[in-house]
Amino acid sequence: MPDTHLTQTPYEPTLDERALARALSGSHLIGGKLVPARSGKTFAVVNPATGEEVARAAEGDEADVDAAVRNAAEAQKLWAKMPARKRGALVAQCSALIKTHVEEIARLIALETGKALRTESRVEANTVADVLEFFGGLGGEIKGESVPFAPNVLSVTVREPLGVVGAIIPWNVPLLLMTLKIAPALVAGNTVVVKSAEEAPLTVLRICELMNRVLPPGCFNMLSGFGPECGGPLVAHPEVKKVTFTGSVPVGRIVAKAAAEKLIPVTLELGGKSPMIIFADCDFEKTVAGALTSMRFTRQGQSCTAASRIYVERPIYDRFVAAMAERVDAMVMGDPLDEKTDIGTIISDDQMSRVKGFIAEGLATAGAIGRACSAMPKDPALAKGKFIQPHIFTNLPASSRLVTEEIFGPVTCIFPFDDAEAVLAAANDSEYGLAASVWTNNLKIGLEFAHRLEAGLVQINQNLVVQANLSYGGVKSSGLGKEASLESMLEHFTHKKTIMMNYA
Ligand code: NAI
Ligand code: MG
Repeated sequence: MPDTHLTQTPYEPTLDERALARALSGSHLIGGKLVPARSGKTFAVVNPATGEEVARAAEGDEADVDAAVRNAAEAQKLWAKMPARKRGALVAQCSALIKTHVEEIARLIALETGKALRTESRVEANTVADVLEFFGGLGGEIKGESVPFAPNVLSVTVREPLGVVGAIIPWNVPLLLMTLKIAPALVAGNTVVVKSAEEAPLTVLRICELMNRVLPPGCFNMLSGFGPECGGPLVAHPEVKKVTFTGSVPVGRIVAKAAAEKLIPVTLELGGKSPMIIFADCDFEKTVAGALTSMRFTRQGQSCTAASRIYVERPIYDRFVAAMAERVDAMVMGDPLDEKTDIGTIISDDQMSRVKGFIAEGLATAGAIGRACSAMPKDPALAKGKFIQPHIFTNLPASSRLVTEEIFGPVTCIFPFDDAEAVLAAANDSEYGLAASVWTNNLKIGLEFAHRLEAGLVQINQNLVVQANLSYGGVKSSGLGKEASLESMLEHFTHKKTIMMNYA
């Protein structure tokens, strides 16, 4: 097995996503080079819209993890010595390079995840450049304080990097969720080893490859592989000094336990069951549009902040349910790479059967009504595609699994309410606490709810996705720690050292 193999990947942006997928096949990126797995093993990367294999991914194990982490540890010594603003400038330079590749990145992510190009993939590709640019400007903010401790004693704090950061990412928004981790980690003087999700290894590898044309080798390494075999050893590696994870609650617990064994800090972003509370005095049209985007129907509901529990005040309940069904019905499900498509596919067979299980259970629940919306695609080329009709459920009991568990599919549950206190209690009656929104023109109620809702992010009369500079992260089982902001960079990717000098 050769130690390295030459890259066949183009430097210039390409719009041939299939050729790019093949060129990226079979590689990790370690120490600035595309390299195969030490074991030589690979696994299939499948286009979920057609079922075709579009590439093979390197199947990482402990040996690959060790190589990547050693490279990262070596690179970190020099990277940490570079002035922070210079590191930031290099990360900002990566942003500029990514901007010239947005269309390519968008097409590749649509190919491997089935997310529609116009409504999802292009939007996500742009966020990568945005987040890199934002953190690239924050190098100068990695600074400490002076403390007036005593006369003739100079007391200051300085911010130091943690070392090698291990990042484990999911498949639903892999580019954005990865960038929220690597950009602040790098600017703060750490180096990173990312383990991509087995369902979506290609586009993040391409981004890593592009960024490695700017960054010193070893600063940003990428491994593909499965959770226990590749993610497990990454968390456990003695040279990994911090872990940041986005994914499911059960795996979050495994990661946190392994980090606890080593006594290293961990950041977790673990999903949600986000309530949307709609009062009768809301701006009706704006709210319906907000519910459609909040539920992320265009991403097949595969979103941790999806508004999967919608509570509507009784006077507008029937009208709201009808408007939602009508709007979702009008959305076009089809080929993710087609500009006309609003809704693409589910990511994998596993997720398909999980989501279908929830839908079947909902339809079998006595008294419940499930409306299937949006026609299945008719193109024979998509016959094997992982498409699921969006479902809107009403009349479900609050104890239903559809109401309590994260479905991660195009399924939302709508309930009527009469009483503000009761709806607040229902909204908070969840193990999750990631996001919530309130829709009303009574800003007194809106603000009161914002304070009393148990969530890391509450929005009134809007439901935007993660924004650079605003702290993002959940409470309760939705996670630990924040991402996306200056404070989160300082808190989670540096430690504060106190230095005292007695000059009496
Ligand atoms: P998962 O939690 O198994 O996968 C997320 C990442 O963790 C992947 O990179 C995976 O390889 C890695 N991983 C899995 N087991 C590991 C282990 N033992 N040690 C280290 N790393 C490990 O999520 P999965 O199976 O893809 O999806 C299942 C459910 O999780 C979804 O239906 C959804 O409810 C939730 N989820 C939430 C996400 C979020 O954005 N918060 C993202 C993805 C999934
Ligand atoms: Mg899993």
